[in-house]
Amino acid sequence: MLEQTEFIRNAWYVAAWDHELQAGKPLARTLLGEHVVLYRDSAGKPVALEDRCCHRAAPLSLGRVEGDCIRCMYHGLKFDANGRCVEIPAQAHVPPQAVVRAFEVCEQDHFVWIWMGEREGAHASRPPAIPWQSDAGWRWKPGYMHYRANIQLITDNLLDLSHLSYVHLATLGTPQTAQTQPEYREIEGGVEITRWDIGSAPTPLHAKAGMRGMVDRWLVFRWYPPGTFLLDAGSCPTGTGAPQGVRQDGIQFRNTSIQTPETAHTTHYFWTHARDFRLDDAALTDEIQAQMAAAFEEDRVVIEAQQEVLRTRAPGPIVGIAADAGPRMARRLIELRLAQDSAAEFA
Ligand code: FES
Ligand SMILES: [Fe+2]
Repeated sequence: MLEQTEFIRNAWYVAAWDHELQAGKPLARTLLGEHVVLYRDSAGKPVALEDRCCHRAAPLSLGRVEGDCIRCMYHGLKFDANGRCVEIPAQAHVPPQAVVRAFEVCEQDHFVWIWMGEREGAHASRPPAIPWQSDAGWRWKPGYMHYRANIQLITDNLLDLSHLSYVHLATLGTPQTAQTQPEYREIEGGVEITRWDIGSAPTPLHAKAGMRGMVDRWLVFRWYPPGTFLLDAGSCPTGTGAPQGVRQDGIQFRNTSIQTPETAHTTHYFWTHARDFRLDDAALTDEIQAQMAAAFEEDRVVIEAQQEVLRTRAPGPIVGIAADAGPRMARRLIELRLAQDSAAEFA
């Protein structure tokens, strides 16, 4: 499987940043190929419904939020947060089939999360925790990118950081990155990949953040299907014990990179790059954000070009290499989750 042709449904996906969902303003978003309208109820809680009125198919996102409900602004049908029509103008009886699909949503760590599968499944699990996004000891800014590529190509990219040495030489990588062997480990519900560059020059970003001389640098990536990457990255002066767990005189970052398929060929990408030092240095915050955005643009150029080749040219050979170990582990987990989805549907 080079691209995901079907998506895991029984899982939490990021639908939006919390600030994108403003009181009284419906937000239209396509997620896993489905058109969804999001809005906040009277208590500020997010609601997600199918963005299609069951009367004559007008998008509810063109409608008006009224308390906990949304009213279609074509002929005025009003729907509650469960998608039930509760009012039809000048008509006493509301037929029971006047419903639109409702989705489970929740807000956590500044994201609005949505569950696109069976609603009951949502109650048994929570979205992955991203503690640094809810902790005043870390500084970050919300990031977003729109990708013209299948989610799997982005997953592959993030799970094989050997590309840092080629795609990101000007930003995140050093020539040494691709020469070191990462360690792969299965963790509960995901994959962990650890990469150490011992005694290397600081990356351009770490140099900007103040690292001088030779450093020991770590990248510890955790990936949870369907699309959550959480990275612990940093560097300390070489030989000061960072690999043994002593982090002194160094710097550290936490990166969040979350993908939600929009369609089979486009993907939403939500990200942050948090730090726990020089918290009041707003210029540094802007600089890190700009550097990371530039680095992610470097990825986007190559991944969208790769997608274009896959989409427009005849299929050709695909040869595996050792560095594919991470993407291979991820694919196994995705296939497992897809099989679980089908089993749940069958049951
Ligand atoms: S299309 Fe929505 S009320 Fe008619
Ligand atoms: Fe990259």
